[in-house]
Amino acid sequence: MSGKVVVVGSLNMDLVTRAHRLPKAGETLAGESFATVPGGKGANQAVAAARLGARVAMIGCVGDDAYGEQLCAALIAEQIDCQGVTKVAGVSTGIASIVVDANSQNAIIIVAGGNGHLTPEVVTRFDALLVDADVVVCQLEVPTQTVFHTLRRARELGKTVVLNPAPALAALPAQWYSLIDYLIPNESEATALTGIAVDSLAGAESAARALLAAGAAKVIITLGEQGSLFASLEGVRHYPAPRVVPVDTTAAGDTFVGGFAAALAQGQSEDNAMQFGQTAAALSVTRAGAQPSIPTFLDVQGFKPA
Ligand code: RIB
Repeated sequence: MSGKVVVVGSLNMDLVTRAHRLPKAGETLAGESFATVPGGKGANQAVAAARLGARVAMIGCVGDDAYGEQLCAALIAEQIDCQGVTKVAGVSTGIASIVVDANSQNAIIIVAGGNGHLTPEVVTRFDALLVDADVVVCQLEVPTQTVFHTLRRARELGKTVVLNPAPALAALPAQWYSLIDYLIPNESEATALTGIAVDSLAGAESAARALLAAGAAKVIITLGEQGSLFASLEGVRHYPAPRVVPVDTTAAGDTFVGGFAAALAQGQSEDNAMQFGQTAAALSVTRAGAQPSIPTFLDVQGFKPA
């Protein structure tokens, strides 16, 4: 029986341009291709958890436009329970304008649209979904008071609580830390939260220790091609990433978070969940786009490192 992951977060339509490099300020560049692709950190993590073996429900908001319809259809196609996705009249659905360069690096600007309407009251309307969850996952593309409300409620219900602090805030409110079981930033988010440069494993370890000292129970810093670092009061462990040929890193972090949450929800050990999430993230980097790049459970099982 698969465990249940509930994601409270954003849904975006990604407007993706590929270009040989990212533009500089004031510059016009000719791009190579354009596509609209379902994304948003919350929806990506929901899709990852569903493809990677969990039962999943999503709580979020879209606008009353074609993008909103398409994003809901994409989640429903993954058997994700979308009763908690509310359509807000008179607003646009969230979008992300993404440029991917020839080195597979990206730059992203988001416009919140419907995501900005995910209030604590909306989450409370779907409280039954939280009650039914094993693992509750949040990010920061929705209002911070909604994230705080969800973390507090999930903690009160005794759920496993995962926060992916993305995009990064300068610092997390101090009272959030004790509500989080697994805090999962990437390098730049860990730097934003701690002020410590995360440009080496030693830097990542210092940042992780600072986040533990702030009160997070466990910290996982994702480090791109360097893999990830797991830290708790018992110690720190580095998980090197499987080697792959990168095509597009968009949603690699989301794939890790969704895969890690799915594995935990299914009763896997933290060690297994780390390896599973990391293999899933590595596979996602070999494919273009956000949700289209996320692998399935069978893809991960069949993965043979180069
Ligand atoms: O993490 C990747 C996601 O960030 C994209 O899908 C985009 O929507 C932005 O939210």
